[in-house]
Amino acid sequence: MPKNAFYAQSGGVTSVINASACGLIETARKHPDQIGNVYAGRNGIIGALTEDLIDTSQESDADIAALRYTPAGAFGSCRFKLKGLEESKAEYERLIEVFKAHNIGYFFYNGGGDSQDTSHKVSQISEKLGYPITCVGIPKTVDNDLPITDTCPGFGSVAKYVAVSIKEAAFDVMSMSRTSTKVFVMEVMGRHAGWIAAAAGLAVEREGDAPHIILFPERAFNKDKFLAKVDEAVKKYDFCVIVVSEGVKGEDGKFLSDAGTRDAFGHAQLGGAAPMIANLCKSELGYKYHWAVADYLQRAARHIASKTDVEQAYAMGKAAVEFALAGESAVMPIIVRTSSQPYRWEVGMTNLADVANVEKKMPADYITEDGFGITALCREYLQPLIAGEDYPPYSNGLPNYVRLKNVPVLKKLNSTFALKLK
Ligand code: F6P
Repeated sequence: MPKNAFYAQSGGVTSVINASACGLIETARKHPDQIGNVYAGRNGIIGALTEDLIDTSQESDADIAALRYTPAGAFGSCRFKLKGLEESKAEYERLIEVFKAHNIGYFFYNGGGDSQDTSHKVSQISEKLGYPITCVGIPKTVDNDLPITDTCPGFGSVAKYVAVSIKEAAFDVMSMSRTSTKVFVMEVMGRHAGWIAAAAGLAVEREGDAPHIILFPERAFNKDKFLAKVDEAVKKYDFCVIVVSEGVKGEDGKFLSDAGTRDAFGHAQLGGAAPMIANLCKSELGYKYHWAVADYLQRAARHIASKTDVEQAYAMGKAAVEFALAGESAVMPIIVRTSSQPYRWEVGMTNLADVANVEKKMPADYITEDGFGITALCREYLQPLIAGEDYPPYSNGLPNYVRLKNVPVLKKLNSTFALKLK
């Protein structure tokens, strides 16, 4: 009897993570002799620990195909990090118990750097606890901060949303600036790396175009330099459009926008840099402002997804199955750029040990010398990632997204697991 596969989504979701699920399930269905059922974890690894598995074989081919254009995590995601094997052997023993009970021999985990730490730890079960499991990570994060891969599925679509939104909002501000708003601030995600903020820079197509200022987490916020730049833009263009990353820190190293709460990975919940920056423009320079926090709108915006991103997300899910069937384990498919102009990419592979917990920040030569814009090199990197449109089907004026049945797999264990959630 072929082994079953476990697949789960982890960390902050994206508008294309389900495209990876689609690629994985469709590919697995083509190999019934090697992979039995694909069981999805309800809410990531938590589904495995609590034996809360979803039987994806109950979903029609059409519904699985519709995952390609449906945003967010169809099986539920989580922020939950496995501790080390020494620290919490009980969690690993429980995973083995559940995997054994459901004849699971493949583990696919779709997430960012923290989540690939989980994949990596699970891959060590084979060696350390003697349970054979083929373990393949699948990259995902809007933050684009995974190392080695050229980009991360999810990022290209957020980048496109941010670049399109700032271009549109700038048209609005430009129309009104004579008698109304002078400053517009948009806050975007990216906890420690400024990739998403940088993408807004793609909206600059000629001299004077917005955004006039981008604030990156890689550069400490300097109030005086910033205000001088705002004033200069308003005097020159009559308005100033600013994009601020939620991860911007002051010269004291503290986030401008720490909301005071922490997630299970210990990360600060961010949000609120935009109003803070906007207020500064009013109190110090007297300019009328509007601000917006793109927040979940940006990472859920499947309607304006990048075609390149969707294709890459699908390819990562497909490659994960192919790698597993070829006997690879403790690895993750990656996107390898073979040329920028014209843009060409192919699927490559890296070791989970090299991606777990590593954050890739913006290189210094991607940020202009004054710290407020992107360089030509950065533009060359980003441009192809937002290329192409891949609209979902619409009905009644709304995108026609799929809601899966998510039928639970019958539990086989009598025992339960006391999960410690924060
Ligand atoms: O997953 C990355 C991310 O989108 C960050 O950019 C953002 O700071 C964070 O998730 C928000 O996480 P949550 O939805 O758990 O508050």
